[in-house]
Amino acid sequence: MKSIQSTSYSIHFNDKCYSELNAYLKTSNFSKVFIIVDSNTHTHCLPKFLSNITYDIAFEIIEMEAGEINKTLETCTQIWHSLSDLDGDRKSLIINLGGGVVTDLGGFVASTFKRGIHFVNVPTSLLSMVDASVGGKTGVDLGTIKNQIGVINFSDMVLVDSSFLDTLPAEEMRSGLAEMLKHGLIKDANYWNRLCNLKALDISELEGLIHESITIKNEVVKRDPTEQGERKQLNFGHTLGHAIESYCLDNENLQTLLHGEAIAAGMIMEGYLSTKTCGLSEDALSEIKNTFKTIYGSVVFSENDKSSIVELLKYDKKNSHGQIKYALLESIGSCKVDVIVAENLIDEAFEYYAS
Ligand code: GLY
Repeated sequence: MKSIQSTSYSIHFNDKCYSELNAYLKTSNFSKVFIIVDSNTHTHCLPKFLSNITYDIAFEIIEMEAGEINKTLETCTQIWHSLSDLDGDRKSLIINLGGGVVTDLGGFVASTFKRGIHFVNVPTSLLSMVDASVGGKTGVDLGTIKNQIGVINFSDMVLVDSSFLDTLPAEEMRSGLAEMLKHGLIKDANYWNRLCNLKALDISELEGLIHESITIKNEVVKRDPTEQGERKQLNFGHTLGHAIESYCLDNENLQTLLHGEAIAAGMIMEGYLSTKTCGLSEDALSEIKNTFKTIYGSVVFSENDKSSIVELLKYDKKNSHGQIKYALLESIGSCKVDVIVAENLIDEAFEYYAS
């Protein structure tokens, strides 16, 4: 599969990942390589990854606890200490081998250790392959508020080996699919239709679609790396979706949602807002709702849940001057940013989601 050129780095696929990485290690004179894994990728992905590294260089493995709940500054502090204790220096390289939590957090650790060292992302979940590992967003949550602390800093390369998906649980595959569907909704109706017609999440069929999703995201990032305008489109479904995800993380009465599950709910609600404010047709809205409800089901929110979620909207990173700004659809394949919506429409969006 053809490599994709991004801002300052390349995204390589399958076998090419390892030839590129070995060549890079050989020519870069790194003092040491640190591989950040979580408990899952340590078992399921690290052995395969290491078996493909042919260049002889010292490796240290640093393991963090798996899960969004551990995407915190406390985990970063532990890893910064490990790097220091294990003689990490400014010529060290960090390889982040994991899903979105590992690539986001590991990228942030690397971007701040000794004022910034080089890092490579090796995404092992579908979500991280098509979204988190690409585009330079690094960071951690503040309490349960998503991605409040972080920097945009690009990795040296992204290596997408789709065979890592062999061991990924079905719900994690569905979570990643939500970001792919979002790419279709904001940029490419044909891609959306093809994803809607997928019969199963079969890896051989997914490979080309993963490449397309990364291409869609990468084109946006290249035009607007620091999210001044167009890149905000990638947040469709995320204003309400992140608030829902944060609320569920912090609330024992609701099940914790994976990122894709939360933004699927967010995309139905923001689809409704799109119809009310940006001209998205009723037919397109029904199609969006049916697609996401079929794949992700429904979460039941009480009145109390709803007000707490609405309260969390104030933390969204796209807000400015006290105003909540949405990325909303004009049609399937076309998205508008910085849309302000009347408060009563948010209530209606929750009602539409529940109906
Ligand atoms: N995940 C949205 C972005 O990278 O901009």
